[in-house]
Amino acid sequence: MGFDSSDDACIYKISDDVAIVQTVDFFPPMVDDPFIFGQIAAANALSDIYAMGGKVTHALNLLCFPSCLDISIAGEILAGGADKVLEAGAVVAGGHSIVDNEPKFGLCVSGLIDPKKVLPNSGARPGDKLIITKAMGTGILSTAQKGGILAESSYMAAIETMRQLNRRAAEIAQTFDMSGCTDITGFGLIGHACEMAEGSDTTIVLDSAAIPLLPDAFDMASMGIIPAGAYNNRDYFGSRVEVKDSVHLALSDIMYDPQTSGGLLLAVPEKDAAELLKALKGELPVAECIGEVIPKGEKSIVVI
Ligand code: CO
Ligand code: CO
Repeated sequence: MGFDSSDDACIYKISDDVAIVQTVDFFPPMVDDPFIFGQIAAANALSDIYAMGGKVTHALNLLCFPSCLDISIAGEILAGGADKVLEAGAVVAGGHSIVDNEPKFGLCVSGLIDPKKVLPNSGARPGDKLIITKAMGTGILSTAQKGGILAESSYMAAIETMRQLNRRAAEIAQTFDMSGCTDITGFGLIGHACEMAEGSDTTIVLDSAAIPLLPDAFDMASMGIIPAGAYNNRDYFGSRVEVKDSVHLALSDIMYDPQTSGGLLLAVPEKDAAELLKALKGELPVAECIGEVIPKGEKSIVVI
């Protein structure tokens, strides 16, 4: 599996029981603290392995770093990344760094997966319920924080969710008979749901009132504190989306908000949905059923 689908990671089959799963992701800092930036970048990169249903084995660092900054800051970034790789039960096995004008950090991550248990984007079936495992609004809150108008406690809530691994969410989901899975990152909830709907030849209905929100995300969105990426996502995906008139504009903005290290979007047969949701809520800070899969209609996404 590779370029031909919009899946979260590539998969290379070794035998009937074992395949390698690999992904790479890196980006510039969205927080000032270098250790926390390292944690978030690593959690974000690791997430694509979990979104495929894989187990992480090892990771390689990718670091771009300006020569004008103190080298101890690079050490802090790498320590934050290693902290999350360790939490994933994996090892940092090396990496590469180059001089660049702006710091950037991320990981190339490898893992193993049972080819029979891959969770593709394209597995959603009419009747499935959709469950999300993190609250939305990290892009909006990061924008508000840069503008100096966000309460410290709300900013900390955004940091906590961005550095939370999707590991347990994926492990719990794997104990059920799942249809499909992806993770919510730069394309926002609507963009990634759109890929799932189109890959599965279905339509996805998202219930705007059920979306779990980070503190202040609704207020900031209502004030128009929206990152450019959300507008880009709306431009790119909007023609494939029907938003009912009753949906609050701030909620649709949040659903287009690009997420850093967002949650998993799980498609599960209706008969297992309540039990899966209960199991997820038992261990994670956030898990909500936010919609369902229906037969393919005129639009890929319907927001109610
Ligand atoms: Co992904
Ligand atoms: Co990715």
